[in-house]
Amino acid sequence: MTQNPRPEFMIIDLAFTPHELEKKELAGKSVVVIDALRATTTMTVGFENGAAAFVPVATVEEARDLVARNPDFLLAGERRALSLEGFHLGNSPRDYRPDKIRGKTFVMTTTNGTRTLISARGGAEVFIGSFLNLGALCERLIEGGRDVLIACSGEKDFFCLEDTACGGALVERLEKTGHSMIKTDAAQAAKILYEHCEGNVHEMLCSCAWGIYLEGLGLGKDVRICAQVDSSKVVPVYREGKIFLDR
Ligand code: MLT
Repeated sequence: MTQNPRPEFMIIDLAFTPHELEKKELAGKSVVVIDALRATTTMTVGFENGAAAFVPVATVEEARDLVARNPDFLLAGERRALSLEGFHLGNSPRDYRPDKIRGKTFVMTTTNGTRTLISARGGAEVFIGSFLNLGALCERLIEGGRDVLIACSGEKDFFCLEDTACGGALVERLEKTGHSMIKTDAAQAAKILYEHCEGNVHEMLCSCAWGIYLEGLGLGKDVRICAQVDSSKVVPVYREGKIFLDR
């Protein structure tokens, strides 16, 4: 494990894609996985509405297999943002209503978000981040006192605007706490990017490639939900293959 040479400073780093994340040292760090459109937003809304847990898996086959062996679990996820045949729920935050999900465990597979989660497993602690829980997440990271690695899900291993802007918003929040920190170039770049859309996150989400695609599918309401900054106080954790609320 590479030691932080200046432990009195928190090092804040960011990976723009899962491919980059897979080359980073995770041990001893707090890792935050972000898929602002839409997976980590949907999970946050799911916990707000009473879901018990999410189990992220990489493939549709794995999801079906896991549910076949655990009949109480439900299938959730998407490909190309569309629900999958035989799955109980898709990846729209509007699917996760209290009457449908209270106390349920979902085996979830999405294109980018669940893959990034699986790649983040080596972190000392792994959190779910989105625009919805920025403030609560920031508090939790400061409390933990560890170096922070923000993991953007991107789009099929390419850079995406929304995750980097969301990561930048988190960098800005951490900085505003006044704690001594060192930001890597990637973290600084993300913060500068966020400063350009700070006043209107929804507009930014509507202008990015995935936002335009979702709008085209008639999922504009989802984009609006993903833009609800600080609307949630939940900070889901990913531990031993499961995402849940530990407090
Ligand atoms: C993903 O994980 O790639 C996205 O959450 C896909 C989506 O918006 O459904």
